[in-house]
Amino acid sequence: MSRRITQGAHSLERRFADDFVQVCEAAALSSGRLMGRGDRHAADQAATEAMRDTLNQMTMRGTIVIGEGERDEAPMLYIGEKVGSWQDDDIEIDIAVDPLEGTNLVANGMPNAIAVLAVSTKGGLVHAPDTYMEKLIVGPAAAGKIDITAPVKTNLAIIAMSLNREIEDLTVMILERDRHAELIEEVRAAGARIRLIGDGDVTAAIAAAVRGTAVHAVMGIGGAPEGVLAAAAMKCLGGEIQARFKPRNEEEAARCVRMGIDLDKVYSTNDLAPGEEIIFAATGVTEGDTLHGVRYFGSGCRTYSMVMGAKSGLIRFIDSVHVTDKRNPVSLSRY
Ligand code: FBP
Repeated sequence: MSRRITQGAHSLERRFADDFVQVCEAAALSSGRLMGRGDRHAADQAATEAMRDTLNQMTMRGTIVIGEGERDEAPMLYIGEKVGSWQDDDIEIDIAVDPLEGTNLVANGMPNAIAVLAVSTKGGLVHAPDTYMEKLIVGPAAAGKIDITAPVKTNLAIIAMSLNREIEDLTVMILERDRHAELIEEVRAAGARIRLIGDGDVTAAIAAAVRGTAVHAVMGIGGAPEGVLAAAAMKCLGGEIQARFKPRNEEEAARCVRMGIDLDKVYSTNDLAPGEEIIFAATGVTEGDTLHGVRYFGSGCRTYSMVMGAKSGLIRFIDSVHVTDKRNPVSLSRY
């Protein structure tokens, strides 16, 4: 299941797509070991350490623009941290990371946790503060037609019409949170089906933009950093996100304003991920709608990743076997 269109020279995407897949693989392999242990912090730390180590092996001048938090609260992959070789001739890259998207999902062995990142040339990804964001996310068929300021029912009608079906045939993914009680009622009243998810709205966004997943939209309020990652994915997949920042308190609102965020604005895919060249990469940690989770076996392990390029049109699914014991070929039959 891969599509690759190569047109001309797209330096960032062509040079770095595989490297960034390896960064996500490393994070997934480390945190996947902790699936079901009930310790979300340990799983997150394992992913973060592995992602940081791998990023630091890359030849680039990388800056974390979305990461594990502000410098004073996150020891690794904090916003502003420099990663990579940082030699004079190296390319400057902005990096948005979520080493483990769905920490609780891994802790509880639930589906759809991923290790994920998006990169662009300088300034290509909005520096979103760690606050909330209201999101409406759809796949390519409804892209350009939705309006987050319109009633839920109107958007569902537009999505249904774009997909040549009835509202009753749609499935909307919504984070299971008290704050979504009204939204859930509105979706139910309009007649669409709902999949409530415990965590992971980046994974949900990807599912909404890929045909065959039986997910047609994502609605509701989730993390703003995750919104930027979703925008990067939508830019590569031809889907759309519309979003409004929703700070939880005065302090967050002030931080948003300091960072240049317009709290009244509807942010489009391009506002959140304006870069021309963007790489989006993700590796499954637990079993998921679009990516399998990590599998471990006697002589190695296996990961499932996706990597995409906004400009090149690259959409590649990667099934990797990481052999750790070459003297034990017998277990290779397990693939
Ligand atoms: P973590 O991976 O940090 O646990 O976050 C997962 C997530 O579910 C995101 O996918 C989502 O955007 C956000 O948390 C929602 O935040 P909250 O749990 O505070 O509602």
